[in-house]
Amino acid sequence: MIQRQNQSELRLDGYEVVLCLSGGVACYKSATLASRLVQAGAGVSVAMSEAAERFVTPLTFQALTHRQVFTSLWQSGEDFRSRHTSLADLADIIVVAPATADIMAKMAAGIADGLVPTTILAATGACPILIAPGMNTRMWESPATQSNVARLKEWGFNFIGPAEGNLACGTVGIGRVVEPEEILATIADILKQNPPKNAATT
Ligand SMILES: Cc1cc2nc3c(=O)[nH]c(=O)nc-3n(C[C@H](O)[C@H](O)[C@H](O)COP(=O)(O)O)c2cc1C
Repeated sequence: MIQRQNQSELRLDGYEVVLCLSGGVACYKSATLASRLVQAGAGVSVAMSEAAERFVTPLTFQALTHRQVFTSLWQSGEDFRSRHTSLADLADIIVVAPATADIMAKMAAGIADGLVPTTILAATGACPILIAPGMNTRMWESPATQSNVARLKEWGFNFIGPAEGNLACGTVGIGRVVEPEEILATIADILKQNPPKNAATT
């Protein structure tokens, strides 16, 4: 099902990835990630927070994934099931990239006040969740964020990054979201532990 000889041959046919964007400056990297996932054969559904929509447009992700992009708990489409539970049921993996300090705080506290945190809460235990944080170094190193990350790790959430390097705020340090190819490889490593949820129909 999945081959990982090299990145260009990586296949994820039959897998469903729900890509959740929160409002960090690295939202642009998630467009590349969505594109590479689609090229690898995965079905990709995108949910964006209101803040994420300030950085990138749903249209970009609609064009890359060939699917409707979800931005609100209250949005209806052709399918009238609750969006947060249907996305959680669909997902073989949920990827939160970029993950803000805010979304991780909500996840660690069980807050469900928008589509992204509600979908993540509804998916807990139903599929693996991979978090790719990105933020200013002081935000990352704050006791609040570190405590939230520790709690989420304890609960079994998977983390990738953040990396060190140049940050949008003009400093150099830890806080960069890791590059899309690295996130893609980690998604494949996690997915290959199980067949697609809907393997029988693919
Ligand atoms: C220009 C700009 C860049 C930001 N970049 C980040 C970021 O990289 N990481 C982060 O945690 N918050 C960042 N923020 C703050 C978040 O957008 C803010 O906390 C927001 O409420 C997050 O909402 P969400 O988690 O619902 O998407 C940034 C804000 C602005 C105005």
